[in-house]
Amino acid sequence: METAIIRRMRENEAEQVADLLVRANEEHFTTFPPSVASGYRTEIVDMAHRRLFADVYVADVAGRLVGSVTYLPDAADDGHRWPPGGAVLRLLAVDPEARGQRLGERLTGLCIDRAREDRAMFLGLHTAPMMAAARRLYERLGFVRAPSHDFDPLAHYGGAAGGEPSWGLAYVLRLGEHTGGT
Ligand SMILES: CC(C)(COP(=O)(O)OP(=O)(O)OC[C@H]1O[C@@H](n2cnc3c(N)ncnc32)[C@H](O)[C@@H]1OP(=O)(O)O)[C@@H](O)C(=O)NCCC(=O)NCCS
Repeated sequence: METAIIRRMRENEAEQVADLLVRANEEHFTTFPPSVASGYRTEIVDMAHRRLFADVYVADVAGRLVGSVTYLPDAADDGHRWPPGGAVLRLLAVDPEARGQRLGERLTGLCIDRAREDRAMFLGLHTAPMMAAARRLYERLGFVRAPSHDFDPLAHYGGAAGGEPSWGLAYVLRLGEHTGGT
């Protein structure tokens, strides 16, 4: 494969990125409970809403978008009660045909660099038990589990109560001296 350029998403690429996010997460939709799969799918394609408070980056190989990540400069916009002073990484995704070439690592690295530039105290994210490749990648890059920020996707996406709080797994990469209780 030709070398990928990591850059900001352009205005007219939102639909392509939404398609990529669905394609990359197809494997997970079948393992999520149906209400979570449906809520998550609706959320990830809502590029217009996300772009009000987040920056979307893409991996571009000769004009083809094969990867993406979303960076929130203010963790408060993530809606998961992160402590103040942090940034958040969301929706890391690489096209199944382009995996294993460290694009996921480069996209995550870009968010870490951005968070350091922004002087964020931490970079937080949520993932799930079945996202094994992502979890390995985050741990390799220094993220650690932050169980006090786990959430329940059944309640969050499906509107049901009584799910497993540990299912929406929180991780943080600590960057500042004060981590605000993360
Ligand atoms: C997680 C994800 C972004 C990783 O993308 P990637 O570009 O393959 O990542 P990298 O090449 O940097 O490496 C990730 C790991 O997955 C492995 N991997 C996953 N799929 C692979 C494939 N098809 N071929 C080769 N290696 C693969 C890599 O070897 C590497 O393993 P290691 O950490 O043990 O060395 C990608 O698997 C993905 O889009 N998954 C679905 C969406 C998802 O789960 N996102 C996370 C949301 S929190």
